[in-house]
Formats: sequence, C-alpha cells, structure tokens
Amino acid sequence: MAETTRILCVESDPDLLHSLEKLLAADGREVLAAFSGAEGIALLSGGGPVHVVLAGHRSASGEGPEFLAEVGRVSPASVRIGLYREPESEAVDGGLVYKSLFVPLDGEAARAAVDSAMERFRLVEALRGKEEDVLRSVAQEVELRDPYTRGHCDRVADVALKIASVIGMPGEGTAALRCGAWLHDCGKIGVPEAILNHPGKLTPEQFAVVKRHPRWGAEVARDAGLPDGVVDILLHHHERFDGGGYPSGAGGQEIPLAARIVAVADVFDAATADRPYARGYDREEAMRVMAVMRGGAFDPEVVDALFGVLKG
Ligand SMILES: [Fe+2]
Repeated sequence: MAETTRILCVESDPDLLHSLEKLLAADGREVLAAFSGAEGIALLSGGGPVHVVLAGHRSASGEGPEFLAEVGRVSPASVRIGLYREPESEAVDGGLVYKSLFVPLDGEAARAAVDSAMERFRLVEALRGKEEDVLRSVAQEVELRDPYTRGHCDRVADVALKIASVIGMPGEGTAALRCGAWLHDCGKIGVPEAILNHPGKLTPEQFAVVKRHPRWGAEVARDAGLPDGVVDILLHHHERFDGGGYPSGAGGQEIPLAARIVAVADVFDAATADRPYARGYDREEAMRVMAVMRGGAFDPEVVDALFGVLKG
C-alpha cells in the first residue's frame, strides 16, 4: 500500500484552513493544520515525516518567503506549495515553491498539486544515494507516464555516449552523461498527464507548464544529491546553441557540453520514434532535419559527431 501523504497546511484564515483540511484529508492524505508559521515549524519539528507543506502567503504579516525558507532549513525533504490570494504575490516566493494554488480554492487543482508534490518527494527518495542501475530503473518508471516514449531514455543514453566518444569527451564525464541522459526528462513528473498526452498542439499555458520540466528535474536531482554534472544536463537539455532555448537562454559554450550532446540525442530519437498516428522519420530524413538545425538549435560539432556515429 502506498505511504500516506502527510501535509502540513499553514493558513491564518480559519475558514480557508478548514476548507483545505476538508478538500485534502482523504484518499491516503493526512492533514496537519497550523494557523501561524511558528505553529507550523513546531509541527514540522515534532517528529514524523511531513511530505508536503502547503503555505498560505500573508505578505502583511511578513510570512511568505521567510517562512518557506525556514521550512527548507527545518525539513529540507518537504515539498513546498504556495497558496496565494493574488497572482502578484506568487512572484515574491521566487523559486521556493514547487507548485502554486490560488484563492478561491479549486479542490481538484489542490489535490492534484499535493499528489504531484508527493510524487516528487518519492522520486527524490528513489534517487538518493542510489547505484547507477537503480537510477536507470527510476528513469524508466518516469518514462512510463508517456507510453509513446518507451525505451526513449535508454536510446538517448546510448546515442549520447557514442557522440561523446566521437568528440573525445573525457572518461570522467561519461558517467554523468549516462545518468543525465537517462533522467533528462524526470522533471516531467510535475507535468500533468493530460498535458503530456495531449494530442496536437499545446496551448501557450500548457506549453508554459511543459517548459518548467528542466528546472523541476534539476531540483529533484540536486535534492537527491546527484552530481552537478547530472543536474546540469537536466537543467539545460532544452537550451539552444543560438541562445533561444529554455530555461536560461544560455547559448554556445555556456551550455555544458553534456547538455548539448543530450539535446541532440533527445531530438534525434524523438524524430525517429513512431507515434500513435505518425511514423517516425527514417535515418536519412532525420539526418536532414538535424542538418537544418545544425548551428541553430544544436552545436554543429555535436551534430557532426552524430552523423559520424550514424555513418560509422
Ligand atoms: Fe525534456
């Protein structure tokens, strides 16, 4: 049986706190309620794991980013969700929260955010201090969320390592490259399946959610204590060589080499994979597509190395 999700809800408005309890306390979720930050920290320190902290943002009382930062110190494994009265106050918390909710509360959105936060908590636990073969199986589990990408992470790792050997990447970089290639999309645990499996073009709002997966993945890898080389791949695998990618817009050599390699291997595999309603490109067609993006999206040296692998 799945572990119960323990959620600490901190909110000064008694009606709102009560609504949160009513919305969340079912289906394997247990709610601890606190009216103030101090009460919340006392509960966090009081023993027993708290998987998710859902904190109402009260700028008037100064409890917002300070409280969330304190939660990070007292209970670093707890995944933080912010609850906001107006969209502007969300920006104040910066990168301190995994997801944001808004008043008036949408029960379904609140449950989905908490369940996703629990999934993130479990992923960090699954990755922490693990051997390579375990990391691979965790990557395969994440991949199952999108059934059309089965085998994708293994193939990306395989092609990435071959490109690295053509380029002559030093041996110490290849372990991080393999793990980073396996786990590059693990941040997709934060993307709802309805968006991941959405047929056709995404709306701008849906795409904005998808674009968060590199940061979510990097945060998971960092929290799990994976090496910086792996974190960098997860964070930068959607940057473009010309600087037009995300999340940072870094370009050229600013993007770590391993991330430039995974970017090429990832898109090449996606281009050649069959989809439910469309066959993938054959090798020659895919090479033409990659050639068009050489020097724009992709590092020309890495694309040339891929061509070397394919022709070899
Ligand atoms: Fe990705």
